[in-house]
Amino acid sequence: MSELKGRKLVLGVTGGVAAYKAAELVRLLGKAGADVHVVLTEGGARFVTAVTFQALSGNPVWTDLWDPRMGNNMAHIDLTRDADAILIAPATADVMAKLTHGLADDLLTTLCLARDCPLLVAPAMNRQMWEHPATRRNAEQLAADGVTLFGPGAGEQACGEVGLGRMLEPEELCEAVIGFFQPKLLAGRRIVMTAGPTFEPIDPVRGITNSSSGKMAYGLARACVQAGAEVVLVSGPVALPVPMGARRVSVRSALEMREAVLTAVPGSDVFIGVAAVADYRPATSAEHKIKKSGAELAITLTPNPDILAEVAALPTPPFCVGFAAESRNLDEYAEGKRKAKKLPMVVGNLVQDGLGGDDNQVVLFDEAGRHPLPKAPKPEVARAIVAHLAALLPKN
Ligand code: C5P
Repeated sequence: MSELKGRKLVLGVTGGVAAYKAAELVRLLGKAGADVHVVLTEGGARFVTAVTFQALSGNPVWTDLWDPRMGNNMAHIDLTRDADAILIAPATADVMAKLTHGLADDLLTTLCLARDCPLLVAPAMNRQMWEHPATRRNAEQLAADGVTLFGPGAGEQACGEVGLGRMLEPEELCEAVIGFFQPKLLAGRRIVMTAGPTFEPIDPVRGITNSSSGKMAYGLARACVQAGAEVVLVSGPVALPVPMGARRVSVRSALEMREAVLTAVPGSDVFIGVAAVADYRPATSAEHKIKKSGAELAITLTPNPDILAEVAALPTPPFCVGFAAESRNLDEYAEGKRKAKKLPMVVGNLVQDGLGGDDNQVVLFDEAGRHPLPKAPKPEVARAIVAHLAALLPKN
């Protein structure tokens, strides 16, 4: 993925034990395409050396306000002039206090004061330091000053205590940085989405399901969160991590999915049916495991409710988006589905192009006609779907 391609980031590493995770963060940001320039404080350098960061970022590491390597001796100005953001991870209670009060007694804090780019801060400290009224005040003031705080998370701490104050994991921070740069096209919108396959029980241990991976829905949920939406993901059984910031409601059968959707939909702006809902379920599910007898066994199937059509037919429905994965006649089938289910928008794709790979090609269908999107990496396709959806939504 290259979601940070062309972005220059200054990564400040201060003196907390989570500094060791900053090494992995540099690797992940670099993998996402970012050009990372590390600034180590004196405390940070006690935990991880500059050599590690230089090797991982491929760039010189800066530690000193008076570093003579910068031609005009103004590292504190030049380093951020073409940067897209400064990210401090880990950020100690001390550096947060300094930033709050505009102190500038080392290279990192001076850079922050002299910057003309956004400042992102990932706090990392003992839970009592985080809960201390001084740190609470500082965090609030930083937010009021336009600084973006990522975390902290809760959990076991290096000191052995458990609580709030852990730095977010490098993967989460990388996600948060990618999300930070996305336009907030869905700010204030509440979106309910279905995902994955359903599992229709035959008996307590067997059932009918399908091979839906859930990747499209989870990718779209991530793009919606990054666009500022509140996302509820009603998901059938898949083993995918929940996109950061989305809330997953786990279900198994189509009936459970319908129940969860009808509970979540009131008050939502958008409903997106991405799940591959089973069209049929066994008419009855045996209470006990069916024993092998050697004789033929017939399972009677009964149709499942169409969740999307039901939501679209509510008296005041949210803006409904359907998916149509077809193996042929895409236009005819997708547009037919849109009309039959009375949907303002359908995302269609030809399955031989869309399954498994890193790229996807879709066509969007709405009242105005068909809108083919170029073949692109899936996160990019998800963003294009979000942009189209956002443009069609009534203004809030
Ligand atoms: O009619 P078809 O199953 O092809 O329509 C696909 C769309 O309808 C998808 O958006 C899917 O999530 C939704 N759907 C549903 N409930 C069903 C069947 C499909 O919500 N029982």
